[in-house]
Amino acid sequence: MKYYTAYPRDNQIIGLAPMDGVTDYPARQIQAKIAKPALMYTEFINVEGLTKKPQAQENRLKFDQEQQPLIVQLWGNNPEYFYQAAKIVAPLGFNGIDINAGCPNPRVLKRGAGGSLIGKNDLIQEIVNGCKNAIKETKGNLPLSIKTRIIGEKEENCRWAEALADLDIDLVCLHGRDLEQRLSGPVDWERVNEGAQIIKGSGKLVLGNGGIKNRTQALEKCKQYNLDGVLIGQAAIGNPWVFSQNDTPTKKELFKTIADHARKVEEFYGPRGFKSFYKHAVCYCRNFSGAKELRIKLLQTKNWPQVENLLNSVALT
Ligand SMILES: Cc1cc2nc3c(=O)[nH]c(=O)nc-3n(C[C@H](O)[C@H](O)[C@H](O)COP(=O)(O)O)c2cc1C
Repeated sequence: MKYYTAYPRDNQIIGLAPMDGVTDYPARQIQAKIAKPALMYTEFINVEGLTKKPQAQENRLKFDQEQQPLIVQLWGNNPEYFYQAAKIVAPLGFNGIDINAGCPNPRVLKRGAGGSLIGKNDLIQEIVNGCKNAIKETKGNLPLSIKTRIIGEKEENCRWAEALADLDIDLVCLHGRDLEQRLSGPVDWERVNEGAQIIKGSGKLVLGNGGIKNRTQALEKCKQYNLDGVLIGQAAIGNPWVFSQNDTPTKKELFKTIADHARKVEEFYGPRGFKSFYKHAVCYCRNFSGAKELRIKLLQTKNWPQVENLLNSVALT
């Protein structure tokens, strides 16, 4: 029952990976409307920041029902802050809490967080305990998960998987690139498979992640490596259709979605936050004639009516 609400079990879980600066409230709204993934995550939220100044994280914590099942992701390295942060998020209605143990960003690594937690078994255990205690004290049964990475070397990878298998958590997502690779390069599905089978042996769900370009590939990976699901990241930026069978929108659908996205960004962040639309705009404009020209023009817009006017004028030509 617990799994059912957070992680749909009827089919493989094809979810949207958490992406800082990308999978925010407006993007998740667009995603849910176009092709709803089985699972979505918030952008990661720093536990210390959330504990000390919760109001500064308001935007990251906002969601609505259409975006569910939605997992809130936390990052940091201090078990006490994880406990405090989990106490804040547990009653908010999310479908689960996820611990980031894979981020390769140097600023995150320098703080001993994200990917720095890989192989730090005692610390991870304490962080999990902190979150579990917070969950128990608030809602009682919220699922807990970890998103992490493989280690390139087989023995070390298996040891990391064994440590994850021993934790009292419900799900692990394994990104098949090691920390040095960061977000690009070949994905080592053999290492994912190796780790996944160890973790699954303890009854947890395992999702794979890395380089998946479409739904067909996602399902193939699940089958080939006996995974409970996969997360799609970069291929979903500017292509929310990636979760549907037919992932090629008509130009009309595409333009309508770009305009919708621009409007939602402006409504959510206000005029000063409009620039966060640009990174999506760049990715929407790929693989059609005139894409490059449109991309350049979209980057000059200052608000969503300008985006709409531009798209209307392009559609008429
Ligand atoms: C812009 C960007 C931001 C990301 N932010 C997060 C994050 O906040 N938390 C996290 O666990 N992973 C984050 N990731 C990693 C993705 O969730 C995913 O693991 C990675 O992109 C590999 O999947 P892909 O090859 O399908 O993109 C981020 C990736 C990108 C490209």
